[in-house]
Amino acid sequence: MTASVLVRPATADDVAGLVELERLCFDDPWSEGSVAGELAAPDRHVRIALGQDGDAVLGWSSTQVVADTADLLRVAVHPGARRGGIGRVLVDELLRTAATAGAERVLLEVAAGNTAAQVLYAGTGFREIHRRRAYYADGGDALVMERVLS
Ligand SMILES: CC(C)(COP(=O)(O)OP(=O)(O)OC[C@H]1O[C@@H](n2cnc3c(N)ncnc32)[C@H](O)[C@@H]1OP(=O)(O)O)[C@@H](O)C(=O)NCCC(=O)NCCS
Repeated sequence: MTASVLVRPATADDVAGLVELERLCFDDPWSEGSVAGELAAPDRHVRIALGQDGDAVLGWSSTQVVADTADLLRVAVHPGARRGGIGRVLVDELLRTAATAGAERVLLEVAAGNTAAQVLYAGTGFREIHRRRAYYADGGDALVMERVLS
């Protein structure tokens, strides 16, 4: 299913909505300061996904582009809106944005136990290039994945 969703660059006015989304999506959500920092950093490309009413915050992503390499720092979809294609819309959008900004590849780290994210990434052309053992505080491994941009 393709999601009915509006994706646009996030602004400082979106911080409160994104902080609430973080709280719903992660055990270790980013703080208001961290989210605001993403929006302020000049090398970041932050996108927000909104419902058709333009109000409900359904997802977001933040990507850093430095020279020829982009890093996907965050992607999350509201728990009530998952499996509707929004994650894929956000990843496709950031791939376009990274390429436009001059990146030749996109890197990310994902918990080895995060099947949903890994399947999403594999379906958008990422492949595992490395495993960082005991990378997370709980002792879990991280997979490093790469998407080459053509
Ligand atoms: C990972 C996440 C962003 C996916 O968002 P989403 O909007 O549900 O993803 P989509 O609906 O676009 O799914 C695209 C594909 O990914 C795969 N996928 C998504 N969720 C899945 C799940 N729970 N189990 C298996 N595959 C899954 C499927 O192949 C899916 O396509 P399909 O629904 O046609 O089968 C979402 O689960 C999320 O926010 N998780 C919590 C935050 C997080 O872990 N972020 C990533 C940190 S690295």
